[in-house]
Amino acid sequence: MTVIPTVLPCKRKPATETFYHDVVQGLSAPQKYLDPKYFYDATGDALFQQIMQCHEYYLTGCEMEILSTQSDQIAQALQKYAGTFDLIELGAGDATKSMHLLQTLLDNGVDYTYFPIDISANVIHQLEKSLPEKLPGLQLHGLNGEYFHMLQQANQHTSRKKVLLFMGANIGNFSITAARSFCQQLRQYLQPGDLLLTGFDLKKHPQVILNAYNDSRGITRAFNFNLLHRINRELQADFDTTKFAHFPTYDPGTGACKSYLISLEEQVVHIGDHLTVSFAENESLYMEISQKYSLEETDQLASFAGFKPVARFFDRKHWFTDCLWKCV
Ligand code: AVJ
Repeated sequence: MTVIPTVLPCKRKPATETFYHDVVQGLSAPQKYLDPKYFYDATGDALFQQIMQCHEYYLTGCEMEILSTQSDQIAQALQKYAGTFDLIELGAGDATKSMHLLQTLLDNGVDYTYFPIDISANVIHQLEKSLPEKLPGLQLHGLNGEYFHMLQQANQHTSRKKVLLFMGANIGNFSITAARSFCQQLRQYLQPGDLLLTGFDLKKHPQVILNAYNDSRGITRAFNFNLLHRINRELQADFDTTKFAHFPTYDPGTGACKSYLISLEEQVVHIGDHLTVSFAENESLYMEISQKYSLEETDQLASFAGFKPVARFFDRKHWFTDCLWKCV
């Protein structure tokens, strides 16, 4: 008997396949959306580096201040609550902030391995090249991929207690509900006594927040448009970015800072040979949430997900906080 294949062999690489699937799903929904994790190709990484240097984008400076001035206190807290541990960082980026903590732990003679996890292959390659030069003696094991998949990998390389770093307000890319299930899921990869250090951007004057996502040089706009360019390039689409406007919003009631692209006219976009997407005039494409928190909300999130808050670190202005939680 001959078996006739019903599925044609696919030419796309799996990563592109997932990207295509997610883009199709987002652009077919009643409220069109894209997943912000796809911002970070090589161009997106570079644009995000520039965002972090914009004077309006205060988040990086605030958290940098915390890490550069309080690494001693943070290291002491980690040693106090965890004893011996390995350090895993979710979304490590260029690690300029965590570097201070890594250095302090080395200075304190703590024997640990640093596992940076990042969705960007580019980022992991850079780290594996640059970190050992900057921090001699550092034990490093880079992991390139999705958070949970890579956490599972990291678990196979260590039997020590784990200290998880989730900085940069990356948790802001989840709605409060999504952050709850994300933290719950994180908790399942951890053991009682393990630690989690999470960076939260705090609620503050709404104008300050809105400006951070609407910088005067238009870097954030370019960062959003780059995802359309990426879709054009990698999925053979034909987005015309001149037909979209960047529209950042902030709701001080909920703390939700959301970015949209607005279609400036009725238009049709092709994604490869098999999908056409139509946009009405003024229809919105939801790009990203950057959720802002109150301190109470961070505590509520901790206890909801099976953690106990044990310490908090602030910048001088109290615009940002790194919260240390212990798994219960
Ligand atoms: C990397 C998710 C923390 O939401 O502030 C910056 C990404 N987007 N400007 C943020 C971002 C637009 C950033 N996070």
